[in-house]
Amino acid sequence: MDEKKNRRLVLVSNRLPFQLLEKNKRITLKESDGGLVSALKSYFARDTSHTFDEKWWIGSADFPEKRWESFNNDKRRRPQDFEVAPLFLDTKLYNRYYNGFCNATLWPLFHYFPSFVEFDDDTFRAYEEVNQHFADKLIAFLKPGDVLWIHDYQLMLLPCMIRKMQPEVTIGFFLHIPFPNFEIFRLMHRSWKEKIIHGLLGADLLGFHTQEYVQHFLKTVRMVAGLDHYYRAIYVDDRIVKADLFPLGIDYEKFHNASEQLPVVQQKEVILKNFGERKIIFSVDRLDYTKGVTHRLAGFERFLEQHPTWREKVVFIMVVVPSRQIISKYNQRRKLIEEQVGRINGKYSTLTWQPIIYRYSHLSFAELSALYQSADIGLITPLRDGMNLVAKEYVASQRDGRGTLILSELAGAASELGEAILVNPVDKEEMAQAIFTALTQPEETQKQNMAILQQRLQEYTVIHWVNDFLKQLQDVKELQKMQETK
Ligand code: G6P
Repeated sequence: MDEKKNRRLVLVSNRLPFQLLEKNKRITLKESDGGLVSALKSYFARDTSHTFDEKWWIGSADFPEKRWESFNNDKRRRPQDFEVAPLFLDTKLYNRYYNGFCNATLWPLFHYFPSFVEFDDDTFRAYEEVNQHFADKLIAFLKPGDVLWIHDYQLMLLPCMIRKMQPEVTIGFFLHIPFPNFEIFRLMHRSWKEKIIHGLLGADLLGFHTQEYVQHFLKTVRMVAGLDHYYRAIYVDDRIVKADLFPLGIDYEKFHNASEQLPVVQQKEVILKNFGERKIIFSVDRLDYTKGVTHRLAGFERFLEQHPTWREKVVFIMVVVPSRQIISKYNQRRKLIEEQVGRINGKYSTLTWQPIIYRYSHLSFAELSALYQSADIGLITPLRDGMNLVAKEYVASQRDGRGTLILSELAGAASELGEAILVNPVDKEEMAQAIFTALTQPEETQKQNMAILQQRLQEYTVIHWVNDFLKQLQDVKELQKMQETK
């Protein structure tokens, strides 16, 4: 094949979309959780544009190399929608990078939890080292004409590392979490700040979920690197770099049409049989202190306290998906949640009713989808969230147009989903009032709001998001070329 015509999309993220488990010499594939993975996987499954001849996903493996080889060489395995090139890293190094700088420094800082942030030069060095390993792998892997798309906060130094070695390469970068305001960002050590900003500016196009994140980024670039912007363009050594907003969408059809699938229908029957006429409030989150689960429980408790007539008529199904279990802040959170659930259930349960059904586990698609469909209220109230796809999935799943979304105003999704009931996630009075309003909302109002929300989500799905980003990336490259020839 003519190498030049073989267009490749090379996607890079810390996490691969699956883990490989081995039991009794049998290797099974377990899907990874989280917004980034679910969005990109949907894109690969749905894209029929043939824009690229090959699509690659490069990420760190949390399985041993040998297991990967047996899996990859197994001729009977189901073909994937993309090729995979895992990166095998030393476990100790990976832990200092992932548990350390990524999730004990960047994650809490970028989500406005400064008091949770650990400042440790050693974990920053691990972060640099892992980014360098990714760079080495990519530099050996990339071919002329490849489109490289790097994802998320774990890999912010990578664009510059690659640019230095391959100045012509096309690099897009997307941040899936909030970009904080400068007063928060500046808390980091000076050299970290500079390296991160210069690292990001190695890309040609930087994407964020909301207008605020773009503004925060542009201001931070000015404060840290002394570079001004013109509209959303920055000149980095005469190379034009753009920052723009691309609110991540979902695979709308997948959720909207799920009610036609037999496993979903069966799950839904079980749920409805179990809860009968009771109204269902539903939430699902990865276990994370940013998700506001304890505040949400406090809001629900306040509602039960204020509205005794609603007791026994409503049930709150709350699913928490295990995540980052090694990190102490996460484990502590689990204990707090479980104590609180136990206390509220102890206080309000009767012999025939329990207000909160709590599950700490992963959900299958059929279970998730059936829960979305059965829920009268989606209660999605993170303290901070880059976007929050759960809110969008809940909306897309309401095939009959009923149901009400209560959404935190501090989730990126709030800027697109204004017809939801927006709440301050720490205000339990407001949350209790929102639950009452949602439970008593006339069906006509529910349907009107849902129709507008659904229309909006259909117009900008994950496929639109990818195409929009890649088109703008191409435009930036063309602009750069025009400037060179001037
Ligand atoms: C968020 C982040 C992703 C991350 C996911 C799951 O969505 O933006 O980068 O992959 O959470 O977290 P984990 O640490 O398990 O990869």
